[in-house]
Amino acid sequence: MSIILISLILGALVALYFYLTQNFKYWQKRGIPCPNGAWPVVGHMLPVVCMRTTASEHIAKIYKDYKNQSLVGFYNFSSPSLIVIEPELVKTVLQTNFASFNKNSFQADPDLDPLVAHNPFSLTGDKWLAARKRLTYAFSSMRLKILLENVKPVCVLFENYLDSKISKTGKVELELKDLFSRFTAQVVANAGFGVDGYCFDDEKENVSFRKIGAAILEPNLRTKIVFTIIFVAPVLKKLLKLRFIPKHIDHFFRTLVAELIEQRRTDKIPRNDFLHLMVELEKLEGDKFDLEIIASHALSFVVDGYETSSTVMSFVVYQLATHSEVQEKLREEIVSVLNKYNDEITYEGLKEMTYMDQILSETQRLTPAAGFLTKICTEEFELKGSDGLVCRVQPGTQVQICLDGLHNDPQYWSNPEIFDPERFTPENKQSINRFAFLPFGEGPRICPGMRMAVLQIKAGLAAFLRKYSLELSPKTKVPLEMIPGSILPSPIGGLWATIRKL
Ligand code: HEM
Repeated sequence: MSIILISLILGALVALYFYLTQNFKYWQKRGIPCPNGAWPVVGHMLPVVCMRTTASEHIAKIYKDYKNQSLVGFYNFSSPSLIVIEPELVKTVLQTNFASFNKNSFQADPDLDPLVAHNPFSLTGDKWLAARKRLTYAFSSMRLKILLENVKPVCVLFENYLDSKISKTGKVELELKDLFSRFTAQVVANAGFGVDGYCFDDEKENVSFRKIGAAILEPNLRTKIVFTIIFVAPVLKKLLKLRFIPKHIDHFFRTLVAELIEQRRTDKIPRNDFLHLMVELEKLEGDKFDLEIIASHALSFVVDGYETSSTVMSFVVYQLATHSEVQEKLREEIVSVLNKYNDEITYEGLKEMTYMDQILSETQRLTPAAGFLTKICTEEFELKGSDGLVCRVQPGTQVQICLDGLHNDPQYWSNPEIFDPERFTPENKQSINRFAFLPFGEGPRICPGMRMAVLQIKAGLAAFLRKYSLELSPKTKVPLEMIPGSILPSPIGGLWATIRKL
């Protein structure tokens, strides 16, 4: 009796194993290389699920192991996913044949995350075009000049905050991500909504914009679990009905936007912030005024802009703390340009800070905010690598572009592990393979906030470096190790530096 029972259980387990791994011959059948070791249910994502590594690092490892091929397949849970390794094929996916790969894998559920569902990132078709058009206009040169006027007071608050922290000994030890999150969150509050974000006021920490931004994206237990599921296993997200944005944040934005619009209707004071522009565009374009759309654009400024920009800023300043000669050269550029403009931060002056652009690019090469992009094939398409590999990609298949892999590939960068802003001088830039450097993506879905991001980062860096110098604190754990489960690169223990007033 017991032998029969054991046999039945074993038989059932074997059947279950075959059922759960039935898809794992997908790439083999198509002649596409694929690593061994896919596990039932999780496929190749076991190290990510166990939080031993980040999804970006894991995908970069597969990229590296197969970098002599043009394509490599793997199993993202049970879904066959294709990593496009060759830059020419990256171009095909992001740009030339965008029509066949026009969807991002992250799709917000309109019932669970209505505000995120209006974000261009999760839209397609006409709605995507309309939402992008607004953002592209919002960040045109003319509009950026206006937005810079809202960033400048934030630079002053930032300097005052640092002065208040720097003790009589003339120095202070601070964590860079924390410091620059205050800056970018205050920019969102000022330039986005025309309100004080209380980001430099320790007593109002709990009601600050930084706190709100942190509730959405910073790596805590909730975000680690939710993001791993949302970005790695969207099927589970649906089953578990997981929200991207916590309910109280959704409520906060709707209320804030409604109250601000009402207040502006009555006080009639002219504004020049992002919210004002979105309201004007909605009035011009829409048959009816849709508050939800406005609130979703407002939230986009936070979700897409705040955490990405502060992450990049903190890594730029980390590199400056580690490379004192680069820090000094940049300071010279800043001081000389500011002198030319009466010591004021101006749009034209920031454009002239070209060494700063080089540093920004080199930092984003080494540590891109997005380690990989995931597109969904929307129309069958044949990808042909120069090595003879051919893959007829089927609609619904996930296609990954591994920024971490491309940016650190010795085939495109000599000594890729070395921080060297000279790679991005005007002369050297000519020889960079455009599709091996994609910090803001490429093609029709390229980041529409790129110019805003660069503007605020450059303004913040100019304000910081003209008055302060810094060096790395021994509290920073080098080599950096990223927190598994975080969506953006986030070093374990943080990036600490000692800051001194000049
Ligand atoms: C340093 C800061 C930033 C970085 C590194 C960054 C990076 C990216 C990347 C890699 C993408 C994906 C592009 C693709 O799929 O090809 C993206 C998309 C996007 N970004 Fe940014 N971004 C930054 C700042 C911003 C800001 C400030 C905003 C707006 C306020 C913004 C709004 C968006 C939106 C709406 C999308 C989706 C575009 C679409 O799918 O059509 N980003 N960003």
